[in-house]
Amino acid sequence: MNILVIGSGGREHALVWKIRQSPQVKKVFCAPGNAGIASIAECMPIKPTDIEALLNLVVEKAVGLTVVGPEQPLAEGIVDRFQVNGHYAFGPTKEAAQLEWSKGFAKEFMKRHGIPTAHYEVFEAGQKHEAKEYLKSIKFPCVLKADGLAAGKGVVICRQMKEAAQTLDMMLDGSSFGEAGRSVVIEEFMEGVEASIFVLTDGQHYVTLPPAQDHKRVFDNDEGKNTGGMGAYAPAPVVTSELSRTIQNRIVEPTIHGMREEGKRYTGCLYVGIMVTSSGPKVVEYNCRFGDPETQVVLPILDTDLVDLLLKTCTGELDTQNLVSSDRAAVCVVAASGGYPDRFETGKRITGVAEAEALSQIFHSGTRLQHGQLLTDGGRVLGVTAIDQNGNLKEAVSKVYEAISRIQFDGMHYRRDIARRAIH
Ligand code: AMP
Ligand code: GLY
Repeated sequence: MNILVIGSGGREHALVWKIRQSPQVKKVFCAPGNAGIASIAECMPIKPTDIEALLNLVVEKAVGLTVVGPEQPLAEGIVDRFQVNGHYAFGPTKEAAQLEWSKGFAKEFMKRHGIPTAHYEVFEAGQKHEAKEYLKSIKFPCVLKADGLAAGKGVVICRQMKEAAQTLDMMLDGSSFGEAGRSVVIEEFMEGVEASIFVLTDGQHYVTLPPAQDHKRVFDNDEGKNTGGMGAYAPAPVVTSELSRTIQNRIVEPTIHGMREEGKRYTGCLYVGIMVTSSGPKVVEYNCRFGDPETQVVLPILDTDLVDLLLKTCTGELDTQNLVSSDRAAVCVVAASGGYPDRFETGKRITGVAEAEALSQIFHSGTRLQHGQLLTDGGRVLGVTAIDQNGNLKEAVSKVYEAISRIQFDGMHYRRDIARRAIH
């Protein structure tokens, strides 16, 4: 079977890498891909949101399964369009993807179905006064979230009233986050440890992949701004098997059943961001796709044929028997451009990748080739993943830092404390 992966980041590189290991696969295409993906798949210069061009490609190349990496095409209805035309696309429909593209919808959905999450209220652009009154009634810190998609950057944790009032003004006026911020969720700040849970579901049955932990802040010790993710590891020991069962019973199952009951059957990968609090696991957010960089650590420790899982998700034949986890552990450290997550330059020459590759698996996030030279082409540039066959995270951590020390580019920075919390 021919497979198309949509997207151009480290997540998509990891998806292509794992998909290629399946004996069912003949050829893998990626749109648009990046320099790393180009070494293992045929890259096509088509934007992830150009749904018509992607449909044409699927027909022309006889693609049997399309895997959608990023949220934007899902929010624009790519799966609906593919289904109408009789093609399998892995991911939720536009309506089901609302769990990610409208934080307001997600919060109200959780309330309707008794799914544990932070207390909140939603305010629209015309409700500035009410929102400010609400701020006076709550405890600080509090969290302000732009309703729509904001590339992981629409969340502001406010320590005091002045900061919250200013952020609120900026969001509701549309001056930060544009239309995405015209509706704002104000919610209680939750103390705890975070975990990322990926659930593959056909809308009824589901399988849970090994739990991972992301590192969202740009600097060590979780300091600095939020980013798309600076590193990850899996499995995350904070999610014990008992906690995993609680998450399934109180969060995953009510979400899948709730969506079905509301006529928005959810298929694809449901990414549940969890806060493990002293009163149990609570939902921080839902995403309607695999996470980046968690995918770069979760897929390498799966023994299952991924294509089999993805196809069964599309055809409604998923079964818990389908999942085979290994004893491995994996760590990914992201090398980012100078200045990221704020302004950064691209086009910097990258060296040492071959040396690092001898010790680890490199997933490209933002790279391009020019005259045979590998150049930076994004904020997150490379994800270096090390795997320990015996599940020893400490070993994987030393290997990953050994590998990343071989890589260089002007302005490169990375966190030195990925997975530190999980190793003693
Ligand atoms: P989100 O885009 O919703 O995942 O938020 C980004 C990050 O902000 C999360 O990974 C958390 O670290 C943090 N965050 C979001 N909501 C809350 C909350 N209610 N309490 C504490 N931290 C939060
Ligand atoms: N790692 C966070 C995300 O993919 O949204």
